[in-house]
Amino acid sequence: MFDSGVGGLTVLHECLVSLPQEDFLYLGDTAMFPYGDKDPAELRQRIGRIAGLLLDRGAKLLVIACNTATSVGQEVAREVAAARGVEVVPVVEPQAEIAAAITANARVGVLATPNTVASGAYRRALEAVGRGLDVVEVAAPDLASFIQDGALFDGDTMAMARSYCRPLQEAEVDTLILGCTHYPLVAPMLQRILGRDVRLVSGGHAVAAAVQRTLEGSGLAREARGEGSYDFLCTGDCEAFHEIGTRFLQMPLGEVEQVEI
Ligand code: DGL
Repeated sequence: MFDSGVGGLTVLHECLVSLPQEDFLYLGDTAMFPYGDKDPAELRQRIGRIAGLLLDRGAKLLVIACNTATSVGQEVAREVAAARGVEVVPVVEPQAEIAAAITANARVGVLATPNTVASGAYRRALEAVGRGLDVVEVAAPDLASFIQDGALFDGDTMAMARSYCRPLQEAEVDTLILGCTHYPLVAPMLQRILGRDVRLVSGGHAVAAAVQRTLEGSGLAREARGEGSYDFLCTGDCEAFHEIGTRFLQMPLGEVEQVEI
């Protein structure tokens, strides 16, 4: 499983809860964080190398636990993985399927990084469901960094969330895709602003269910018994990854190995 940094640990969290018997190896590309405003061509090269590294370490399934990486580089990861006969679970499509299934008024909002919105990945995935949905996408250039830098519960974050929610309120969406790994941490704020009738769809649940389906479908699932291991690689400062990552993982985070991409 990989991500632009610590955000994907919200996805790993759900997988550790839903699939405790599996072993996970998580790579956080913290040296390159954030992906949301980086050159997509540069990100694609990096994503290809990260996929290769995780497959070299013996991955039986590759999970892209990053909305931006999925949006700009899913195909590269799939190419690298397919060459070794390994399947890929991205975050965008499973989340879009859930949102399309639960919206009652057929108006779905997407809050995501600028790269994710510019890629049109969510719009395509939602259109592919074929329900004729109205899709309202809002790019949030600095929300992920704000959350990561620890300004989680201050007034500025609330004000920022409020301004990003305005177009979603105007469009009367009844379902909002949290299109970035960091947003589950501010889900209570978003819920308060949008009202409790709006359903929030985070990536973690969707990915955990997709991982389970894929492993079972390919006969690679472990018997649901006992607890597997979970280990960490990062490309930047390991201590910072450990400290900030624990807040995102909400479980003990052990040793972190530094790797170069
Ligand atoms: N994991 C990234 C995402 O979901 C966090 C934001 C970023 O790297 O810009 O888009």
